[in-house]
Amino acid sequence: MSSERGAPLIAWSDDLALGDATIDRQHKGLVDLINEMHSHLDSPDRETQVMRCLTSMYLFAKEHFWDEEALMERVGYPDRERHAALHREFVQQTHDLTDRSLSDAAPYEDLLDFLVTWFHDHTSTEDAKLVTFVKATSLS
Ligand SMILES: [Fe+2]
Ligand SMILES: [Fe+2]
Repeated sequence: MSSERGAPLIAWSDDLALGDATIDRQHKGLVDLINEMHSHLDSPDRETQVMRCLTSMYLFAKEHFWDEEALMERVGYPDRERHAALHREFVQQTHDLTDRSLSDAAPYEDLLDFLVTWFHDHTSTEDAKLVTFVKATSLS
C-alpha cells in the first residue's frame, strides 16, 4: 500500500463519477468509508475503529447494491444476474478478509488493498456498463 496514512487512499474526483447522481453519491460514500478505515490503521484503538468503519461499510454497500440491483431490474439490464453475483462475492470476500484480519492471520492492509482494487475494478467496468445501458435506455 503506497499511500501515506494522512492522505486519502482513494482521492475522489470527477474521473470516478459515472454520471448517475445516486450511484455516484453512494460510490463517494464508500470511498469516504474506505479512506476513514485507512486513517485509523495506526490508531491505538485500531480494531475498534476499523470494525466500526467496516460495519458502516457493510450496511452502506448492502443499500447501494440493493439500489443498483433494483435499477437493473427496472431497466431490464441483461447482465443483472452476473452483476448481482459479483456483489454477493464482494460481501463474502470482505467478510473472509475481515475474519483473517481479526484473527491476525493477515494484516489489515490486505483488506484495504482488496477494497481499493475491487472498488476501482468493479465501478470502472461493471457499474460503468450499467450506467451506459441506463442512459441509452432512457434516451430511447
Ligand atoms: Fe456500485
Ligand atoms: Fe455494482
